Amino acid sequence: MQRDPLLEFAIATARAAGELLLEHRGRELEISTKSSAFDLVTSADRAAEALIIERVRQRYPEHGVLAEESGLARTSAAGPHGALQWIIDPLDGTTNFAHGIPHFCVSIALEDSGGTRLGVVHDPVRDETFSAARGGGAWLEARAGERPEALRVSSCAALDEAVLATGFSYGRARAEKAPDWIDNLAEFLAIAPRIRGLRRAGSAALDLAYVAAGRLDGYWEYHLQPWDTAAGGLLVREAGGELLTLTPLADPPRWTPVIPDLVCAGPGLLPVLRGALRAARPLTR
Ligand code: IPD
Ligand code: CA
Ligand code: CA
Repeated sequence: MQRDPLLEFAIATARAAGELLLEHRGRELEISTKSSAFDLVTSADRAAEALIIERVRQRYPEHGVLAEESGLARTSAAGPHGALQWIIDPLDGTTNFAHGIPHFCVSIALEDSGGTRLGVVHDPVRDETFSAARGGGAWLEARAGERPEALRVSSCAALDEAVLATGFSYGRARAEKAPDWIDNLAEFLAIAPRIRGLRRAGSAALDLAYVAAGRLDGYWEYHLQPWDTAAGGLLVREAGGELLTLTPLADPPRWTPVIPDLVCAGPGLLPVLRGALRAARPLTR
C-alpha cells in the first residue's frame, strides 16, 4: 500500500536528525540552562532542530512549525486539507544526552484540522524508528533485512503485573514559588509499591513509543509539552492504547497534545491506573 509521502518525509527527516545527534555525541558539547539548572539545552538540540526546520521549509514552505527551541516558528495557511503544522522535539531526553546516557530520540508529528495526522519517534542509538499514521496503525519501521512490525499495546490489566514509566518535570524548580505545583511524588509513592516495575528513563516520547510497542504497560506524567507527546500519543492510540488527562474536572477526561498531563495504557489497565493515580492526590485539581 502506498504510504502518505508526508510520513516518508517525517521518517527520513527524523533519521537524518538522529544521525546528526550521534555525530554530536563524541564532540565537545555547548550545554546551557533554560528555566533552571535542571532544564538543559545543548548545541546538539539546536543543530538537530535547525536541520529539521530547514528540511520542512525547503519541502513544505506553506506548512507551520512548532519546535521546542524556536517556539512557534511559523503558522500555516489553511490549504485544501486545513492548516498543517509540524510539532518538533529535536532531542527528547536532553539530560540523558548531556550526561552520556544513550537513551534519547527525535520526535516529529504533523497536525491537521483532525488532530495528529502522523507521528515519528526515532531512537538513533538503537536505530529504532516508531511511526504512526492516523487510521493506519503504528509500526516499528524495518531495518535493513528486517520486516516492519505492527505495534500493539500490552494486554496487561492488573497493576501488580504492570511495568510502568513516569517522569518528573524540570518545572519542579518552581515548586517552592507555586505551592500547588504537582510534583508527582505522591503518585510515585502510591504506585511504586503496587506494581512490578517503575521506570524513569528520561524521554517522554520513547516512554510513549514503548507503551505502543507493549514494552511498557503504561505511562503517566504531568507538565508535558505538545512536542513531547504529539507523535508518541498517536503511536499509543494507533497501537490500540488509550490516553486520558489526569485532571479530575475534565469530563470526559479526553487527552489531546495541548493538555500537559496524561496517563496512558491498554484499555484493560487504564481505568485501574488512572483511579490509583487520582486516589494518590484526592484533594487537588
Ligand atoms: C523531557 C523528557 C523527560 C520528561 C520531561 C521532558 P527534553 O524532554 O521527555 O523524560 O520527563 O518532562 O521535558 O527536555 O529532554 O526534550
Ligand atoms: Ca522533550
Ligand atoms: Ca527536547
